[in-house]
Amino acid sequence: MCGVFAISSLDINDAGERVVDGLKKLEYRGYDSWGVATSSEMIKEVGKISASNATFIPDTKAIGHSRWATHGGVTQENSHPHRYKKVTLVHNGIFENYLSEKNRLLEKGETFLSETDSEVIAHLIQEQLDLSHDTKSAIQNVAKAITGRFSIVVMIEGLDEIFVARRGSPLIIGRGKDEYVNTTFIASDIPAFLEYTNIVNYIDDEEMAIIKNSDVNFYNLCSGEKIEKRNIEVSWKEEVADKGKYNHFMIKEIFDQKQSLTSAVNHTDEEIAEFISALQSGNGVYMVACGTAHKASIAAEYYFSQIAGRKINVVPASEMPAFERFINKETVLFAVSQSGETADILEILDLGKKRGAKILSITNVESSSIARISDNHLPIRAGKEKAVASTKATTSQMALLLLLAYADDNRLNEGRLLLQDLASNVNDLLNPRYEEYIKSVAETLNDCSNIFIIGRNSLFPMALESAIKIMEVSYIHAQGFAAGEMKHGPIALIEKGTPCIVLGCDSETISNAMELKSRGATIIGVAHVNNVLFDQWLKIPSAGTAISIASVLPIQILSYYLATLRGLDPDMPRNLAKSVTVK
Ligand code: G6P
Repeated sequence: MCGVFAISSLDINDAGERVVDGLKKLEYRGYDSWGVATSSEMIKEVGKISASNATFIPDTKAIGHSRWATHGGVTQENSHPHRYKKVTLVHNGIFENYLSEKNRLLEKGETFLSETDSEVIAHLIQEQLDLSHDTKSAIQNVAKAITGRFSIVVMIEGLDEIFVARRGSPLIIGRGKDEYVNTTFIASDIPAFLEYTNIVNYIDDEEMAIIKNSDVNFYNLCSGEKIEKRNIEVSWKEEVADKGKYNHFMIKEIFDQKQSLTSAVNHTDEEIAEFISALQSGNGVYMVACGTAHKASIAAEYYFSQIAGRKINVVPASEMPAFERFINKETVLFAVSQSGETADILEILDLGKKRGAKILSITNVESSSIARISDNHLPIRAGKEKAVASTKATTSQMALLLLLAYADDNRLNEGRLLLQDLASNVNDLLNPRYEEYIKSVAETLNDCSNIFIIGRNSLFPMALESAIKIMEVSYIHAQGFAAGEMKHGPIALIEKGTPCIVLGCDSETISNAMELKSRGATIIGVAHVNNVLFDQWLKIPSAGTAISIASVLPIQILSYYLATLRGLDPDMPRNLAKSVTVK
C-alpha cells in the first residue's frame, strides 16, 4: 500500500522538497511514517508527513514514500526508502515470498536494517547488479523472482536515471510541460503531480520504465521489449483540499451530501441503459467490494432483489477467491469502490479478465485502475473524499446502485424521481440545528464502550455500515446485526443502559427493539417518525426504498462527534488508510 512519489528533472533543484509536498497529497494511502531520498541524502521519519518542513541539499532527483505498515512495525528503520549499497528504493505492495529470499541472503552473510519485505528487493537488485551491471535486466530478473503485487521506484548510485516497475500496484508517469518541460513525475496517484501537469502515461501491469529528466522509455517487464505509450490528457483539475468553515474533512464531506447525491445519479439515460445492458448480458452477477463499499453493495443486493427481481451475489473481494470457480465468460463481475485502487478487488478483476468475464464498476475516480480495467464504468461523482472514513462516497454509491436497480426493471424515471426527492430532503435535513442535536446525543454516549446497531431489510447492511463508521473514527466497539438476529445470541450482551441504535420503525424492528429495551437497553431510534420506545430519536426524512441512504446520515454525524468529543482526529484514524493497495 502506501504512496510513492518521485521527480527526475534537468532544472528543478529542489526535488526533495517537492517530493515531500507531493507525498502530502498522497497521505490518504498511508500516514504512519515517511521518507525521501535524493542523490546525496535520505530523511526518514515516523509520523505524518503533513507536519514536515524538511529541507534538502539542492538536487534534481528524489524518490519518496508515505507508509502504511505491512511488514514490520512503525519505526524509522522500517520506513522507506530502503538502501542497500548502490540501490535505493521505495516500494508499494507486498513481496509475498520475501522470507525465503531474505533467508537465502542472510545465509550469504548479508545483513538487514529493517523487518520489511521491501528492503529485500533492494538486496536482490544489488545482487543482480553485482552480476551484470545492467539495471534494466537486474530489475527484470528480480521481478521474475518476486510473487505478489508491487510497484517499485529505484535509484542507483552513480546513475542519473530513475527505474520503475509495476505489477498490480498503481504507478503513473506525469509528463512535465511549460516551465516543467524538462521534468518527469512518478506517482502512485495523479494528485501528487497535478499542480505541474495533467499529461500522463499509465504504467500497466508487467511494465517498467526508465526515466531521465523528460526522457521516458517504457518496456515490457518480462521480455524487456520497448513499448510505445500514448500521452493521455486527464481532465482533472487540482481539487484544492479545503475544509472551508469546517474543522475536519469528515464533517465537511458529510455536509457535501447536500449536493453529491444529485451528481451521483446525473448520468444520461443512454449511459445507464448501456450499463444495464452489460449487467443483463451475463449469467450470474458477482458484486465485489471492500469495507464500506461492501456494505453499500449489500444494500444493493436488497435493491436489485426487491426492485428488479435480480439476485446479485455480494462477496467481500478478499473472500471471492473461494468462489472463483464461478468466474467464467458468462459471469458479470461488478466492482464497487471509492478509490478504484483496492488490491483485493483488482486481483479478482484481473482473474475475471483472463477468464473472459464482463467487468463492470462504479468508482469515484475515473482514471483509477478499476475504472480502466472495466468494460463498463460509471463514476459516482462524489467529488474528492479526503477523510479516511467514507461518507459522501458511500451514499453516492448507494444512490447510483438504487437507480441502476430501477433501470434494471425499466423504471429509470421512477428511480430518478425518488432520488431527486431524497436529495432535496437531505438538503433540508443537513443543517446546524440537526448537527447540534446529534452532537448532544453523542455526548450521552461518550463514556460507553459498546454500541449495538440493528436494522432489517436494506437497513441491515446499514447497521453493519454504522458499526464500521463508529468504530473506525471513535474506537468505540460497535457491532451491527440483522434486527431479528439479536435474540439468537447477541442479546446476552445487553445490560442496563447498553446503547442500541435501532434503524427503522416497522413493526417487526420495533418488536426486536422492545426485546432489547426489556433487558435494559437504551434505544436510539433512527426513523422518520418517533416511537414511544425511543429514548432518543434521530429524525430522517421519509424516503421509501431510499431509506437506507437516509438512515446512514445521522450515524455519520454521530460518529464524527463521538470521535471529536474524545479528542480524536476523525480524518486520519489510527491504523487505517483510505486507499488499500495491498491484499
Ligand atoms: C479502506 C478504507 C475504507 C474503504 C475500503 C474500500 O479500508 O479505509 O473506508 O471502505 O478501503 O475502499 P474502496 O476505495 O475500494 O471503496
